[in-house]
Amino acid sequence: MKSVASAPGKIILFGEHFVVYGVKAILCSIDKRIIATSQCIDEKIIKIKSSLGESSMKLDALEGLDSISPKFMKPFFYIIQKTMKERNESTGIEVVLESQIPAGVGLGSSSAACVAVAASVNGLFGKLTREEVLKIAIEAERTIFEQNSGADASISVFGGLASYDRSTGFHNILSKNNLNFIISNSGQTHNTEEVVQQVKNFKEKNESLFFNLCKQEEEIIRNATVALEKNNINELGLLMSKNHELLKKIGVSTEKIDLMINEAKLTSYGAKITGAGGGGCTISLVDDHNRKKTLNNLQKISDCFITRIDHSGLRYEQ
Ligand code: MEV
Repeated sequence: MKSVASAPGKIILFGEHFVVYGVKAILCSIDKRIIATSQCIDEKIIKIKSSLGESSMKLDALEGLDSISPKFMKPFFYIIQKTMKERNESTGIEVVLESQIPAGVGLGSSSAACVAVAASVNGLFGKLTREEVLKIAIEAERTIFEQNSGADASISVFGGLASYDRSTGFHNILSKNNLNFIISNSGQTHNTEEVVQQVKNFKEKNESLFFNLCKQEEEIIRNATVALEKNNINELGLLMSKNHELLKKIGVSTEKIDLMINEAKLTSYGAKITGAGGGGCTISLVDDHNRKKTLNNLQKISDCFITRIDHSGLRYEQ
């Protein structure tokens, strides 16, 4: 029997990095997914295959998570180890990951993979609720990225457009808005954990400046919430560009990203980094009037695609 689950990637409209320090973020899931297919196998091993690499380990060697290579696979082995222990199972398992989400560019591929693996592996023995999947996915991600706020995994599990903060969690935003974004990929990959650490170092050296930037971010998010309620796309775009200026101040933009942002701002309602930065992707807010022109311009300097909000979140496919 195969157990198949899929989970979407995400974009952050407002609040990345600041969310790690308790500020609210606004984010949505996108129409690109990771699909995890799990099955029990006769060999007493755990095997994980993806287009980015393969890894396997003997069932009875499952304690040694630190030796797992490549390192990004560690959370998946954590999930399997925990599942087997809690369910008192000892079968071999193979998990195959297929991804539509570019990796390492801020679109939430690591979180979506943890969500899909947690749902798919558990689905072999008895499906988990969304809340249970979220809990194990966040725990798993924290085995390699301790400061993880949980925002990316939450939006991947529940889908839609939402706000998230570390103390009160996920809140769906019931928006009538049909928001359209162009995602532009700089091609500069990053390691989220390293960029988050870089911001932590910045914060430690500039405590009062960072506190002030958090206050500015909170104000942007208050205004963005009103703009979303009123479907004020002009204001929303301006706030996104303003948010990008704060991200520049904490040092997560790059020359290429700023070039892409400046280009996007000529025709779109507003643009910013999405996710950790240090390269990665930008998002530009567009509608029918400026989508084509913005896309044409951005395509000259980056890989672009148009995205819609995904409303389904985690799906059990089989
Ligand atoms: C990464 O997509 C978002 C960050 O805010 C990290 C996090 O929230 O865990 C940079």
